[in-house]
Amino acid sequence: MRRFVGYRTIASNPMCISDCHNAANFLLKLCNVFGATSTLLSPQEGINPILLAKFVASDQPQSKKTILFYGHYDVVDADLQPAAVNSNWLADPFILNPLNGFLYGRGVTDNKGPILAALYAVADLAQHGALSCNVTFLIEGDEESGSRGFRKTVQDHHSEIGSVDYVLLSNSYWLDDHIPCLTFGMRGVVHATLTVTSNRPDLHSGVDGKSFQHEPLKDMTSLLGSLIGASGTDIMIPGFYDAVDPLQPSEFRAYSSITTTLMPGHPEIKDDKAFTESLMQRWREPNLTVHRIEVPESKTAVTISRSAKATLSIRIVPSQRADQVAASLTAFLEQRFQTMNSGNTFKVAITSKADPWLGQIQSKLYEALLSAVKDVWSSDTPSQRTFPAYTPTSGDAADVPAHYVPHRRASSLATHGTFTMENAPKEPLFIREGGSIPALSFLEAEFDAPAAMFPMGQASDNAHLDNERIRIDNLYKGREVLKRVFAQV
Ligand code: BES
Ligand code: MN
Repeated sequence: MRRFVGYRTIASNPMCISDCHNAANFLLKLCNVFGATSTLLSPQEGINPILLAKFVASDQPQSKKTILFYGHYDVVDADLQPAAVNSNWLADPFILNPLNGFLYGRGVTDNKGPILAALYAVADLAQHGALSCNVTFLIEGDEESGSRGFRKTVQDHHSEIGSVDYVLLSNSYWLDDHIPCLTFGMRGVVHATLTVTSNRPDLHSGVDGKSFQHEPLKDMTSLLGSLIGASGTDIMIPGFYDAVDPLQPSEFRAYSSITTTLMPGHPEIKDDKAFTESLMQRWREPNLTVHRIEVPESKTAVTISRSAKATLSIRIVPSQRADQVAASLTAFLEQRFQTMNSGNTFKVAITSKADPWLGQIQSKLYEALLSAVKDVWSSDTPSQRTFPAYTPTSGDAADVPAHYVPHRRASSLATHGTFTMENAPKEPLFIREGGSIPALSFLEAEFDAPAAMFPMGQASDNAHLDNERIRIDNLYKGREVLKRVFAQV
């Protein structure tokens, strides 16, 4: 873990290309030491190598099932200077930092830790002649950049990757910090960048501004306004909601039962209906976010900018399709721009696409995961899984930046909980996720193999945020769960 986290595998940063290649080679060597046959698949220029490593079942590999384990070694950016203003990292994010039962560092939970746990599970079984299925690792280096190039590379190398019976991922999180989960759904996403450009330089609003003049930032504002409507929360693309699956009574009961299960351990859930509603809004309903609106350079209060750029994303749900949403978003905006009769130029660029995913939990893989999670997690008390957010003690206060905000939280549920052996659920929760993984539904379709998602870390792991962490016990238990799965399927 220390070596793996040490590679600054930020795919979006050109300075990190060699770290990405080194991380891929590190994984390749590790897999080979453990008995795999490995290669690096090289996508087009500018895209990081994809590791393909095949472990064969301990006996009669031809007649065995094959599990494809997908993961990504790239990570989201992290401030490289720990003491920089606006950075709340307590230490260099690329130096593994063990503390209070957790490992801190960029990528420890998303997705480096789970990858190593899976790899060591297979290695352990292979060494003891107990690997009951073939396990193929496919580990890419551009997931956080929308898995650019992944589809094409996998299609080009389909026969080399071989036939696959199940796809397995471990790249999501528990709903709180206490109750183990199995994930069976994720939203898809469409990212877009809009630009409005004029053929003029920056102008002065007093000297040059005139009533009928189309200004790029004004055009952009109007376009975004027509996209999200007067309510501020609707998505006005015609027919956008048509493909959203209607809520079935059984589905609603499943969400309600998650709330009921969580309430004994989470007194902070005051309104059960509102909590259930919030789960549904995050997991089974679409949402549009405007991430940024930019103009070139810094502006004064009189500038009419020569251009404007906006980035937005739409999270999509079954049975919406990313291609279809991308096309109708583009058509809608272009049509609206037409009717504005602006002399400016408007462009929509779709920067990434991921289809939503809904897994089939009546599969042998979920069965194996379910029984393994139950066995591995049954013996310890859920309250032991509560660890405080890191709060500096007087001894190390000198290392703590003055502006440090204790553990910014990614989850709506508190890290503390009041579960006991008696009121804690005996079974993992089956949950969905609001986040997206572009490879997921693609791999399912490409190999005609059902996928399963096994979340290893907890809600307070803070993926993508500062002080990303994973609990050491979750890593070991995660490895143990996967060992049981790979010894059984
Ligand atoms: N591990 C996440 C997916 C995820 C997000 C799981 C939230 C559970 C909760 C993955 O690495 C990720 O960051 N996905 C991106 C996809 C995008 C870059 C196309 C996301 O969801 O924003
Ligand atoms: Mn991520």
